[in-house]
Formats: sequence, structure tokens, C-alpha cells
Amino acid sequence: MADSSSPIRRIAINTGGGDAPGLNAVIRAVVLAALRRGWEVYGIERGYGGLLEGDQDGLVRLDDDRVRGITHEGGTILGTTNRGNPFAWPEQGEEGEQRTHDRSAEFLRAFRGHGLDALIAIGGDGSLGIARDLSECGLPVVGVPKTIDNDLAYTDLSFGFLTAVDTATDALDKLHSTAESHQRVMVVEVMGRHSGWIALYSGLAGTADVILIPEIPYTIERVCEKIRAREAQDRHFSIVCVAEGAHPVGGPMVTKTVRAGREEQVRLGGIGERIAIEVADATGKETRALTLGHLQRGGSPNAYDRLLSLRFGTAAVDCVAAGQFGCAVGLVRDHVKPVTLDEALRERKFVDPDGQLVATARDLGISFGA
Ligand code: F6P
Repeated sequence: MADSSSPIRRIAINTGGGDAPGLNAVIRAVVLAALRRGWEVYGIERGYGGLLEGDQDGLVRLDDDRVRGITHEGGTILGTTNRGNPFAWPEQGEEGEQRTHDRSAEFLRAFRGHGLDALIAIGGDGSLGIARDLSECGLPVVGVPKTIDNDLAYTDLSFGFLTAVDTATDALDKLHSTAESHQRVMVVEVMGRHSGWIALYSGLAGTADVILIPEIPYTIERVCEKIRAREAQDRHFSIVCVAEGAHPVGGPMVTKTVRAGREEQVRLGGIGERIAIEVADATGKETRALTLGHLQRGGSPNAYDRLLSLRFGTAAVDCVAAGQFGCAVGLVRDHVKPVTLDEALRERKFVDPDGQLVATARDLGISFGA
């Protein structure tokens, strides 16, 4: 980790990548802890865009008035984007084609030009990767991990995850009564990218009958076996909780193309619909699929996520005060501590198919389709 001994007077903070409940609580914690040290705080809007998009006002002074009453608010008061990498800035070529170009030097010049001494960057692996690259170019950076997917291995939890689990659990609870009334199979697709944490946690808490996760490839026969077994026990409805990254044995994950302005992006999604059709074909049961999607990223952070966000925010300010840069704060056995950005980005966290949580689910009779 780089060490800087120059005094801090003015810091910046930004939020990048997909939003997550708790971002505003981190912003508030950073601002209040920095103000107590006599520093000024500025928010860079829309990820890194605030310093690169000349047509929009992108650097805002954050004082205690500006961050009052936002701990419980979803989203981010600074805005965010997953298209604003200064090292690969998207632009349209002369023929209308999409291409990227490196604007990192411009970003660094603007950062220094505003007299900013350090950056606290809140983001998932994409944004923390940008933070590491900027740090390697000499920018004093501290990262704060954010992702509802909970897939960063260096931290026991990232904020936003448990609120997303609450949202998905609430949906599973509500779907039980309608599934039972209609004697249907309800397939609920939740987020999580290549990890099954949201599906596993919410599937357990929301008492799903089948949980499908990327870490345990399924066969549709085994999924239907569970549904038929329930029928035989006079339980004429079933709830299937499927992670967006789940896939059959030997088969690919399901993706779809989405539009980001003129650009097309590939995203995970569609596995829930597919499973609903396959289950209906194989069992003759009426099925419905529901994709929870971005609902899981919205709303007020739960108490635990607020607490974690506030802890991460003040810990990041501690790092800046100590001149400890090129690092990201994380939670390790209920202790918030910094690790290098390289270490933070080294590994993704996956569900252990032989671990305790999966064993608990199996003991409860939940099927993983395998
Ligand atoms: O990483 C967070 C996440 O919500 C994933 O769970 C999901 O696959 C992805 O972002 C969706 O991205 P977007 O907001 O671009 O649709």
C-alpha cells in the first residue's frame, strides 16, 4: 500500500457500477468523519464522469447539510454508471461504431486541478479495478466494497447484499400464497451474477422447495423429481428460487442483450423463464416465472447494511488520515480492516457446494436439482 505523508485538506468520493442499498450511508459516514478532521469533501458525480463530462456539472461540495437524512435512502446522491471507465471511455466513432479511448491522464489532471488530495471510491470489482489502475498511476485511493452479489472474497460481506436478500425473501413469502391458491409452480429468478449467494440465502429464509445456483449445475429431471415428490405428499404447489447465473449440467448460463443508449450489453437473465417452460412440459403443472431484477438493488438499506456502510465509510477516512492508499476496506471476522486493492481483487467468492449452508438446505429437504 502506498504511504503518503502530505497533509490532507480536500478529498473526493464517488460511486461506480451498479447501485446497492447503503451507498448513501457510506457517503454520509465519509463526509461526517472527514469534516471532523477539518477536511473538505467533494462528490464526483456519475462515477468518474463528473470530471470528464464537460457538459455537465460534475463535482459537488458535500457538507453536513447535504448528507443529512440520507442514511436510510436507497440509490446514491452522486449517481453512478457502469460505462464510465476513464481507461476505456466509451465514444462513438466516425462511422457510428462504438469504441473506447483512454482518458485516464485527463481524469488525473482534472483531479489534481481541483486541488483534491485523495479519492474514496465505492464500487464492486469493476470500480475497484479502475481504482487500482488509477492508484498505479499515482492517485491516492481508498476503496469501499459494494455489491449486492456478495462475491468479493476478501470481505465477509459487502453492503447491500443482506438488503437484497430481504427483498428476495419477502417476494418468496408473498408468492407462497398465490402459488398455493392456484396450485402452481412459481419460479423466481434473483440476481447474483456468477455466484449463488442471494438465491441460497433468500431461498433458505423464504423456504423455497428448489434452489438453483451456478455453483451446483442442475438437471431438469431432478428439479421435477422434487416437484413430483411434493405432489405425492399432497402439496400441489412449489417454489423454485433460481440464481440468474444458474445453468444445467454441461450447459451455458442464459444471457440477454440490453441497450445502454446506442451500445448493446450482454447481461445474465432468462433462466427463470426457461425453467418454468421446462417444468411445465415435464410435469404438466401450471407454472409462472418472475424475475425480481433491479427491485433487489432498490429501497432502503436494512439496519445491518446501514451499520456496515457507516463502518466502511469511517474506516476509509481512517485510511486516508493514516496516509494508507492503494487499499480497500473489508470486513474480516467482524473487524473492518484495509487490504491492498490487488488483494481485494484477487478472488471471487462462491458458494461451497459442500459447505454448511448447502448442507443445511439439503437437511431441510430443499433440492438443488442435482
Ligand atoms: O452486480 C450487481 C448486479 O445487480 C448483478 O446482480 C446483475 O447481474 C447486474 O448487476 C445487472 O446489471 P445492470 O444494472 O447493468 O442491469
